Amino acid sequence: MASYWHQTAQGKEHEELAGDREADVVVIGGGITGVLTAYMLKRAGISSVILEADRVGGGTTGGTTGKITAQHGLLYAKLLSEFGKERSREYAAINLEAVERFKEIIDAEGIDCGFTRADSYVYALQDATALKEEAEAMRRLSFDAEYVGLAKELPFPTAGAVRLKDQAYFHPLKFLYALAEKLTIFERTRVLEVKDGAVHTKLGSVRFKHLVFACRYPIVNIPGYYFLRMSQQRSYLTALRGCADLKGMYVDANSNGPTLRPAGEDVLIFGGFDVRSGKNPAGGKFTSLLQQARTFWPGCELVAQWSAEDCRPIDNVPYIGLYSEAEPAWYVATGFNKWGMTSAMAAATILTGMIAEGKDTLKVYAPARFEVAASAKNLAGDVGETVSGLLKGIYSVPEEAFQNVERGKAALAELDGERACVYRDDSGRTHVLPSRCSHLGCRLEWNADDTAWECPCHGSRFDIDGAILDGPTVKPMG
Ligand SMILES: Cc1cc2nc3c(=O)[nH]c(=O)nc-3n(C[C@H](O)[C@H](O)[C@H](O)COP(=O)(O)OP(=O)(O)OC[C@H]3O[C@@H](n4cnc5c(N)ncnc54)[C@H](O)[C@@H]3O)c2cc1C
Ligand code: FES
Repeated sequence: MASYWHQTAQGKEHEELAGDREADVVVIGGGITGVLTAYMLKRAGISSVILEADRVGGGTTGGTTGKITAQHGLLYAKLLSEFGKERSREYAAINLEAVERFKEIIDAEGIDCGFTRADSYVYALQDATALKEEAEAMRRLSFDAEYVGLAKELPFPTAGAVRLKDQAYFHPLKFLYALAEKLTIFERTRVLEVKDGAVHTKLGSVRFKHLVFACRYPIVNIPGYYFLRMSQQRSYLTALRGCADLKGMYVDANSNGPTLRPAGEDVLIFGGFDVRSGKNPAGGKFTSLLQQARTFWPGCELVAQWSAEDCRPIDNVPYIGLYSEAEPAWYVATGFNKWGMTSAMAAATILTGMIAEGKDTLKVYAPARFEVAASAKNLAGDVGETVSGLLKGIYSVPEEAFQNVERGKAALAELDGERACVYRDDSGRTHVLPSRCSHLGCRLEWNADDTAWECPCHGSRFDIDGAILDGPTVKPMG
């Protein structure tokens, strides 16, 4: 299911890494974080090599909604109460600055990516209390934001909205591909291991002075322990033609209502249904989205539909900075919580400052932080999910269930005494995989919308034959 962005842009092919080499900086991952970091490093006079498991933009960046905004849902009231004013100001300032940096880079490089200024809105369907608190928190942080009452442009009733003026949207892949052309990149090159000052891939290795993990979910478990700090959430998007001519960009405060943004040429991006990866066994999200859209705009035409996932940290704030105190040359940028456009720009700026000038990260983003108040509640829930995923007992489906799996359907079945993931394709052929995720052993679950096996613990995903669709795992199944 190619995203609208993939349907409407094509990037240059880069060869696979073969053989051994050296680099000042190795960047793992060719999404917006990796590409922007390598680009900023280049501007600072530092060369880097990007190693990308798939194609540039083949991860979440190619499936984003592409709103460039410092308004990250309902964030700032919570941030102020849990992180305090100084850190909230850091967060606000660097994300606001990030919007302007996109504009500056697009102008400087002459990139034609549909960058358009637009106001950004968070709306609520029922209760506007939290919106008013958010508007007040944003005002305290000097944002040009206000509570505006009803979101009048939307085709459904809202209880109210907070508006942040003068943000932007763009075509994320046209932007990414333009920058990627200026960088040294190896595609279809998955990093399998980091050992003895080098990253190792199937056909080669690169020794590094500095290493940046820009692979969305960090692939090294220890040190860092990111697997205890983050889950992944998946969302569903459509591109529609012939519906509304919206001016603003909208997101629901509680993820119950749709997310919307215009994309030019009479196209609207319309999506929703945030769900933890591995928790969509029955599917139906795309059908529901289209039905919902057609209640608003009966004649609208489906141009594309796709889904993507992003990391959700336990305290909702990204980790940007040193990967671990134990590894002084490793850096990380992750946990963008579906606000990765300005967060990636913030990360590229911060990591370039750290590598090129020995600066520190911002306190708010420091991966070494441990905000008990912010983390405690979610930690209990998330670690509970991780542990229960790891420990899930022998839930066995009778043999008949395996025999009777219908075409186009999947089941968890018992096969020769082992639990297995079984999918029967449209031609009647069965595809069988072990049921334990190759990352840390949680039990895989079916995603009927995406025809994929997903791990609810940290969001690794596999196709029906066990090839990796998404990390953090670096090992295919089977
Ligand atoms: C549905 C959805 C809508 C969103 N909408 C918005 C929005 O409107 N505005 C906003 O600001 N943010 C949005 N986000 C968030 C934003 O899209 C992401 O945070 C951002 O794209 C993440 O970029 P990234 O470069 O960190 O990760 P990715 O784009 O996923 O890139 C990581 C890359 O690393 C590669 N990789 C992984 N493992 C390895 C390995 N072992 N070796 C080599 N390469 C590896 C992957 O193949 C991938 O290409 C949205 C997210 C989702 C899911
Ligand atoms: S156990 Fe970590 S992604 Fe599956």
